[in-house]
Amino acid sequence: MMRIDVISAVPDILVSPLNESIIKRAQNKKLVDIVIHDLKDYATGKYKQIDDKPYGGGAGMVLMPEPLFKCIEKLLSERKYDNIIFLTPQGKRFNQKKANALSLNDNIIMICGHYKGVDQRVVDTFATMEISIGDYVLSGGELASLVLIDSIVRLIPGVLGDSEAALTDSFQVSSGFDAPQYTRPADFKGMKVPDILVSGDHKKIFDWREDEGKKKYRKVKRKNI
Ligand code: ADE
Repeated sequence: MMRIDVISAVPDILVSPLNESIIKRAQNKKLVDIVIHDLKDYATGKYKQIDDKPYGGGAGMVLMPEPLFKCIEKLLSERKYDNIIFLTPQGKRFNQKKANALSLNDNIIMICGHYKGVDQRVVDTFATMEISIGDYVLSGGELASLVLIDSIVRLIPGVLGDSEAALTDSFQVSSGFDAPQYTRPADFKGMKVPDILVSGDHKKIFDWREDEGKKKYRKVKRKNI
């Protein structure tokens, strides 16, 4: 079973999204074990401090190295990890290809930075990759780690049923995007479902979906440049 350990200073952010829908089902089916670690549990000293002011001055607080070292070293003493991922806007951009590769891992640690980041010595010592989910700054790595987890877990064999098969997802098909989808009713307020989809001709439907996916892909890509 794949295991994902997420280390966070604000673990409550992670709880609900990991306990719904497909990710919840994957855990119940014992296809993935997702373990959240509250950094405060690894804090030492009277005040259980986990962050401090940056050396050299500047705004914001930096996560201290000791609690993170303690947590990561404990995990590393228990099992081998394929990847230790630090979520940061300065990392390599996440995409479907990276999700596919990570879905083949057995054990992954995700480190969520918070405030102004984490002490660089943690990253230098442990991180096997630094990943960003896009060119914008989040308040912490938690939402980014959830994005990674969601996209990885749905690729684990057995997580999706046949009807949801990940192979037909956008980005997994050659066109780049899914075709538009419709469900009943066939006529909603005068807006009709494309005839081809109710034709029953599977070859034509397949080709139409490929074409529409490609069209949508080109349109969106143009808009994003
Ligand atoms: N932490 C803060 N912003 C982030 C981003 N865009 N991607 C990954 N981790 C982050």
